[in-house]
Amino acid sequence: MKTLKEIRNDFPILSREVNGKPLVYLDNGATTQKPQIVIDAISKYYDNENSNIHRGVHLLSQEATTAYEEARVKIQQFINAKHSHEVIFTSGTTGSINLISSSFGKKHIQKGDEIIITAMEHHSNIVPWQMLCEEKEAILKVIPINKKGELIVEEFKKLITEKTKLVSFTHTSNSLGTINPTEEIIKIAHANNALVLVDGAQAIGHDRVDMQKLDADFFVFSGHKLFGPTGTGILFGKEELLNDLPPYQGGGDMIKTVTFEKTTYNELPHKFEAGTPNIAGGIGIGAAIDYVNSIGFEFIKKQEKELLHYATQELRKINGLKIIGEAEHKTSVISFVVDGVHPFDIGVILDKLGIAIRTGHHCTQPLMDFFEIPGTARASFSFYNTKEEVDILISGLNRALGMLL
Ligand SMILES: Cc1ncc(COP(=O)(O)O)c(C=O)c1O
Repeated sequence: MKTLKEIRNDFPILSREVNGKPLVYLDNGATTQKPQIVIDAISKYYDNENSNIHRGVHLLSQEATTAYEEARVKIQQFINAKHSHEVIFTSGTTGSINLISSSFGKKHIQKGDEIIITAMEHHSNIVPWQMLCEEKEAILKVIPINKKGELIVEEFKKLITEKTKLVSFTHTSNSLGTINPTEEIIKIAHANNALVLVDGAQAIGHDRVDMQKLDADFFVFSGHKLFGPTGTGILFGKEELLNDLPPYQGGGDMIKTVTFEKTTYNELPHKFEAGTPNIAGGIGIGAAIDYVNSIGFEFIKKQEKELLHYATQELRKINGLKIIGEAEHKTSVISFVVDGVHPFDIGVILDKLGIAIRTGHHCTQPLMDFFEIPGTARASFSFYNTKEEVDILISGLNRALGMLL
């Protein structure tokens, strides 16, 4: 078992300085930092194996293909999918949602059909469905939330009808930290014959997700929020559903045969992976999973829970500060506003002190409208953060407010 200090040493960036101060990185909701093992896996691929996959008879291509496909199996095991071909590599959560909205939308959404999302979705789980509904003359419905930032499940039960084809919702809110009653929502959707897409972007690095237990039809996430590289993501889909869907993009690798008269499509997972993929990126996610497994979710959850608890308690002591998002079940994300102060100004001053937080609407503008605020300041913690960093945040914040108020 590594100490926290040893864990921090695994992440080279955590020892750098920002504006002459040690970096305090509290923007893990936006992206997580990368351990050396991930950086090494990517450079090993470019140093030693670089070549295109799936098509080459030569050794480099075979080695690269093996590394890439091994990563797919690691992801399958990590999320407990039944088959590795249920794991599709994409460019990110956004890419995965667009894949489903396009492919599922083309085949299964018709005029008058309904898609249900929630009031706390990231824009990437709103806009693709709006575009689809506009094209198909379908109806987008929104599950409301209460002032604590929790979904009102009773309202969901009223919204869902026999016209509802898909419920697409976030497992965990990036702006509020709310962990939704995911299993319950999936059960209700399935009882009403609707399929479910779960946006797992903010869940994946914080707790074990198990496709067999969850029973989501589609589950999507980004590699870069799981300590892996940017520009990588995953779409999990149940085999029979993915087999039923038309391809998303046409091109190399996704075909079986091509003539000018007719093309037949490849099998899963290749049917949804047109063109040369982000090979190094996929291998990088595999390495990230090895790393997370070596730390273990028991430690990750304990550490993040303590940080959430401690930071919430200390932030509440600051006069005029209001936490936005006080759900009973929360991940280690704290959004806040301070009376009379723009969040942007807080972010800029904290940056001068080496503290990286996020400010703004966090790609959830309708959610900000619900709370009648332009945006929040958001500190989001990962397991490599420390209580000392929380203390630095609090004293930085007091200093910033002293200047701004
Ligand atoms: C809940 C949620 N969904 C979707 C996304 C989009 O992820 P990406 O930009 O990696 O596609 C994010 C990113 O912050 C997110 O937090």
